[in-house]
Amino acid sequence: VAFIATLNDALSNAALPPQEAERAMPEAGCRSAVDDLSRWPVYAQTRLADLPGLAARLGIARLWVKDEGARRPLSSFKALGAAYALGEHIRDQIEAASGERPGYDAIWAGKHRAEAAKIHVSAASDGNHGRSLAWGAQALGAKCTVYLPHGVSDARADAIAEFGSTVIHVDGNYEDAIARVTSDSARDGMVMLQDTSFPGYVDHCRRIMQGYTLLAEEIMDAIPQGTPPTHLFVQIGCGGLAAAVAMASWRRYGAARPRLIAIEPSVADSLRRSIESGSAEIIAGEHPTIMIGMACGEVSMLAWDVLKTATHSVVAIDDDAAARAMRLAARGVDGDPTIEMGETGAAGLGALMAALDDAEAKAKLELGPDSRVVLLNTEAAIDRAAYDRILAAA
Ligand SMILES: Cc1ncc(COP(=O)(O)O)c(C=O)c1O
Repeated sequence: VAFIATLNDALSNAALPPQEAERAMPEAGCRSAVDDLSRWPVYAQTRLADLPGLAARLGIARLWVKDEGARRPLSSFKALGAAYALGEHIRDQIEAASGERPGYDAIWAGKHRAEAAKIHVSAASDGNHGRSLAWGAQALGAKCTVYLPHGVSDARADAIAEFGSTVIHVDGNYEDAIARVTSDSARDGMVMLQDTSFPGYVDHCRRIMQGYTLLAEEIMDAIPQGTPPTHLFVQIGCGGLAAAVAMASWRRYGAARPRLIAIEPSVADSLRRSIESGSAEIIAGEHPTIMIGMACGEVSMLAWDVLKTATHSVVAIDDDAAARAMRLAARGVDGDPTIEMGETGAAGLGALMAALDDAEAKAKLELGPDSRVVLLNTEAAIDRAAYDRILAAA
């Protein structure tokens, strides 16, 4: 398994996040997202699976997997992002027109569908973000158009169209799809709700990231007292998820926060390169990988403001590592609960196994018999045929 681990020289061990990170993800916004989402009609916590059998086999003390594959209603943590930001945008519009901000509950109870129907939202997505936006738009009564880059399977495209959204295929990579949705939205009066940020585009992205805070809070609440995690492995696409998890864990654990290990596909390791060079790097061209949710050539600006100091190290893996992890999680080890992990969902476990197989990487990541590791399964089998094919391959 091809594999690279890079340490972050700019890692901060301070008790509090630096100001730059606080500005990117202010605490008040994270708190209000958690409050709102926990009163969501479809809200249910996802399990934090404890895998003692696999931990013993891997030679670590504990292994917990946060199973976002079970996140209602979309089988991915992305349900917490775009759909939340859309609800907030509808509240903004009503407040601007009437001077009164409606309650979050009122929006989700369908009391403002007439106002929502005037809004047309858009996004570029490699699948799950677009699906969250499409689902939210259907639930709240807005129109939605999603732009898909090359490499997104028909099954993933259908999973967006099924919520009544228009799907547009862009002849190019994820960054090309962002460029296209940006210009089409400006031309056609669509409101772009994007999970990445860049100069001049931060507010909607920040809200999406704040929505992800909920899953981090759930993890930390479920970890038994006295055994805090030592390592947190998080998948990186544009980095929004990792930034949200990093900020929540920094605020909860202070200087004793777990090491944040960022996972990327080796064909799209823009965070790794940025950490190496000290400034945000872009990887042009196609990023062919089965870990489609991580096929991003550029780190989100807000996420970079957090990850540049929050990240302990970056691990870049090949598709084989994710496929191997999918098969192992589906089988379970020594009576552990089994977990359905989609291709991107399995990347954290793939990276952990690859790191433990490599003495140098294991030392760099400070992994050993006392390690208590948290991984995220960020999606279940969204493309069922692809999942079955990978599981059947020995
Ligand atoms: C299943 C899955 N996991 C992880 C990620 C990465 O999240 P982010 O782009 O916020 O870094 C994505 C992004 O699309 C995803 O779909």
